[in-house]
Amino acid sequence: MENQQKVKNLIDLRAQAKMGGGEKRISSQHSKGKYTARERIEMLLDEGSFEELDMFITHRCYNFGLENEKYLGDGVVTGHGTIDGRIVYVFAQDFTVFGGSLSETMALKICKIMDMAMKLGCPVIGINDSGGARIQEGVTSLAGYAEIFERNILASGVIPQISAIFGPCAGGAVYSPALTDFIMMTEDNSYMFVTGPKVVKSVTGEDISTEDLGGADVHAGKSGVAHFKVDNEEEGTLLIRKLLSFLPQNNLEEAPMGDLSDPIDRLEDSLNSIIPDNPNLPYDMKNVIHAIVDNEEFLEVHRHYARNIIVGFARFNGNSTGIIANQPNFLAGVLDCDASRKAARFVRFCDAFNIPILTLVDVPGFLPGSGQEYAGIIVHGAKLMFAYGEATVPKITVTIRKSYGGAHDVMSCKQLRGDFNYAWPTAEIAVMGAAGAIEVLEGRAINKIADLDEKTQFIADKVSEYNEKFANPYQAASYGYIDDVIEPRNTRFRVIRAFEALQTKKVVNPLKKHNNIPL
Ligand code: HXC
Repeated sequence: MENQQKVKNLIDLRAQAKMGGGEKRISSQHSKGKYTARERIEMLLDEGSFEELDMFITHRCYNFGLENEKYLGDGVVTGHGTIDGRIVYVFAQDFTVFGGSLSETMALKICKIMDMAMKLGCPVIGINDSGGARIQEGVTSLAGYAEIFERNILASGVIPQISAIFGPCAGGAVYSPALTDFIMMTEDNSYMFVTGPKVVKSVTGEDISTEDLGGADVHAGKSGVAHFKVDNEEEGTLLIRKLLSFLPQNNLEEAPMGDLSDPIDRLEDSLNSIIPDNPNLPYDMKNVIHAIVDNEEFLEVHRHYARNIIVGFARFNGNSTGIIANQPNFLAGVLDCDASRKAARFVRFCDAFNIPILTLVDVPGFLPGSGQEYAGIIVHGAKLMFAYGEATVPKITVTIRKSYGGAHDVMSCKQLRGDFNYAWPTAEIAVMGAAGAIEVLEGRAINKIADLDEKTQFIADKVSEYNEKFANPYQAASYGYIDDVIEPRNTRFRVIRAFEALQTKKVVNPLKKHNNIPL
C-alpha cells in the first residue's frame, strides 16, 4: 500500500470507528432522546479538547458468532480532555455497540484511563449507558467488571470519580457507579437496579415498573443512591462541569479559586430577623446559606433525599467549602438514619479532598421511635459523629438556633475538634428542649397539682426558668465550648475570617491501617 493510501486508510478507519454500531443504531439512540457516547463527551468537555484512545480495539470473543461482528473501539469511547482547562479522564459506554454491554476489551479500555488518571492525579468521569455484562463473553466480562471495581476502590479518596447514568445500568454493573463519589441520573431515560422487574416478578411476585424500581426519582429521593437528578443530558453535563469547579484534581491539591467579586464584609441585615420568635416555627435554612456564601451560589448535593439536612458546595472569598446544615423547614431539621448517612458521606468526601467544612446547626435532636431504632439510628448517627470527629480539614460550626442532646455533639461540636464554634444569640444549647426536660425533672411535682390552672402556671414557670438558663448560647460560651456569639448579619465576614485563620491547619490522625467506621 502506498503511503498516501495508508493515510487515507487511517482516515477511513477513524471515520468507521466514529460511527460506533452504525447509522441505524445511532438513529435509534437519538429516537430515545439519548445522545451517542461521542456526542456526550463533546458536550461535557471544553470544545475540541478530547483526545480519544484505543479507537482500534475490538473484542476477542469467539462465542455465538460474535467473531463475525466487530466494531472498532468496541462498546466504549475513552480518552482525556479538559474541563475549564483542567485535565479529566472520561469514558462513555456506547449503547450502539452491543447495547454498551461490557466486554473484556471494554474493561481494558476503561481500566487504562483509570490507571492514567491515578498516575496523573486527575478526575475520572464515567458515562453509563449499558445492558450490563456482555452475555456472549461470560466470565471474562465479569472479570472485567471486577478489574474496574478494584480501581474504583483504590482511586476512592485519591481522585474525584463521577458517574453519569444516561441509560440502563443494571445487575452487578451498578457497583462501579456505587463505588464512585457522585452519581447523577437523567429523568425518564436512566435506571439502576441490581435485579430488573422481570426477575423481581419471578422471585417475589412483585409487579413493578422499571421507573418505579430504579428510576431517577427513586434513587434521588428514596434510596439516596443518586446524588443528582437532572432533566436531560445537557443539564447533566453542565452540572458535572460545575461540580468539578468546586473540587481539586486530587487529594494532594486544593480546589480552584472562584471569583472574588463578592465583598467579604458584606452585611446581611435580613439574618438578624430570620429566626422566628416562636422556637417551634420553621424557616428556610437555604436562605441563610444563600445570604452568606459568595454570590449566593450553592451547589446542593442530594437535594431530594433526606431533606431534613442540607449538604453541598459553595465558596467563601473564592475558596471552595462544604456546607452541612440542618433544615428546620423539613421534619424540623431532626437527625434520622437517612440524614445521618447523607451528611456523613459528604463530610468524608470533603475531608478526603481538602475541602473545609462549615456546619450550620439547628437540630432538635435525633428522631425518636421504634422505626428509627430498628433501622439502626445508633449506627447511622455514629457514622456522622465518626466522620466529623476524624475530619482534619478546617471545621467551623455556627449554631443558629437549636442544638440539643446527642445531636449537639454530632453536629461538629467543639470536642469533635471543631476549630471555631460560633453561635447566634438565638442559639439554644442544652441536653433537651424545655418541655421534655421539665416533664422529666418535675413530673412528680406536676402530678401532685390537682388544679389545672395552677398546674399550667407551674409548668410555664419551670419552662421559663429552664429556658432562661439553657435556651441561649451563653452557658456553652461560659465554658468555652462556643468561641464567640456573633451578630447574625455579620456571619459571612466572621466565617471568612475564621477560614483564613485556619489556612495553615495541619492535623494528622494516629497512624493506622484504616479506621473501622461503623458501616
Ligand atoms: C450483549 C446486549 C446486551 C448484553 C443488550 N445487548 N444487552 N448484547 N450483552 N448484556 C444488545 C442487544 O442484543 C441489541 O443488539 C442491542 O444491544 C440493543 O439492545 P435492545 O434490547 O434492542 O435495546 P433496548 O430495547 O433499549 O433494551 C435495553 C436493555 C436490554 C433493557 C438493556 O437490552 C436488556 O435487557 N439487555 C440485557 C440486560 C441484562 O440482563 N444484562 C446482564 C445483566 S447481569 P442489536 O444487535 O439488536 O443492536 C450483569 C452482571 C454484571 O450485568 C455483573 C458485574 C459484577
